[in-house]
Amino acid sequence: MAQRKVITTQVAIMGAGPAGLMLAHLLAKAGIESIVVELRSHQEISETVRAGILEHGSVNLLVDSGVSDRVLREGDRHDGIELRFNGESHRIDFQDLVGESVWLYPQTDVFLDLSARRKADGGDVRYAVKEATIHDIEDAPKVWFTDEEGVDYELQADFIAGADGSRSHCRAQIPEARRKRYFHEYPFAWFGILAEAPRSSAELIYANSANGFALISQRTETVQRMYFQCDPSEDANNWDEERIWDAFRSRVNGNGFEVKEGPVIEKTVLKFRSFVQAPMRHGKLFLAGDAAHTVPPTGAKGLNLALNDVKVLFDGFDSFYSTGSTALLDAYSDHALGRVWKAQQFSYWMTSMLHTAADADDFSRARQLGELRSVVSSRHGRAYLAEAYTGWTGER
Ligand code: PHB
Repeated sequence: MAQRKVITTQVAIMGAGPAGLMLAHLLAKAGIESIVVELRSHQEISETVRAGILEHGSVNLLVDSGVSDRVLREGDRHDGIELRFNGESHRIDFQDLVGESVWLYPQTDVFLDLSARRKADGGDVRYAVKEATIHDIEDAPKVWFTDEEGVDYELQADFIAGADGSRSHCRAQIPEARRKRYFHEYPFAWFGILAEAPRSSAELIYANSANGFALISQRTETVQRMYFQCDPSEDANNWDEERIWDAFRSRVNGNGFEVKEGPVIEKTVLKFRSFVQAPMRHGKLFLAGDAAHTVPPTGAKGLNLALNDVKVLFDGFDSFYSTGSTALLDAYSDHALGRVWKAQQFSYWMTSMLHTAADADDFSRARQLGELRSVVSSRHGRAYLAEAYTGWTGER
């Protein structure tokens, strides 16, 4: 093989999802160089349908760091959600309970805003590379990759940020003896659809029923995003429109509420689990976002956690390059994991409280309804949910 072309930077970033691009953006603003390396093409990332809720802290990061204020103009501010069970809806009023809101703004748009900003600022982002691997993470980190034209590179950097998503190559390079993996599997998955229909509701509805969970979310005036609980082994092709709408009707309709139906233009089965790899740092490699942790989608925390990691990691790099101190970089993993485990708890709790296990006995079902009532009938219960959903502030 011809020799690799050597290029250098301060921080090599693996992955051009929201975490990698946000890190590159913050570093650039602080005068710190980075090169982002990504296996997927720009188009492939833009076409992936992902979740859509941003905590106020995530919105502030996008707006205050100058990525874009499109989220404020085109996103929808939501001041609450509804929990629906026993055929009745109960509003969790975020503004009243904790004085905060969330924004419905799909992850794809966050990616488009960030990639447009990197491009406008002359950022170096290499999409659609082949065979990107990391080496010598303990002392002289480098990334080997082949670009779209087939040129082989060795990218040498002071540090590597591993923001390469849930199938991370980076996290697997941390020696087994030096890391721990935490897993939790759930006996259900989500069947997600995009449908051409008007909004069924102004706010998100998280519905529990004896037939399983369903989530009514939105996208635009004419296209909606919704999910219902299914078995992880389900094949989306076995579901025609009638069967899909029947699943929604039997989980959310009743007492004057009816889901608004229309042509289904996208359908997928989304499998999920809880996962954490700790610590989130080894030598000169720092993991961020899905590379280090995944949560079930019920708490809408995935993207928000990734952006929080990046904020903490950026502070570490900024402090190192401006003062030479590694104190914040050394504290990165513990600091980020504090929020990660709160989000794991919240996502696990929302998932177990709202889904119905196929083998649930009468006791489990009645206990679950007791749990839901104890949340909605108490200001403290509602406030716990509201604080977690909109994003914790203050102490970790
Ligand atoms: C979505 O709109 O895709 C969405 C919203 C809230 C969730 C998960 C997904 O908890």
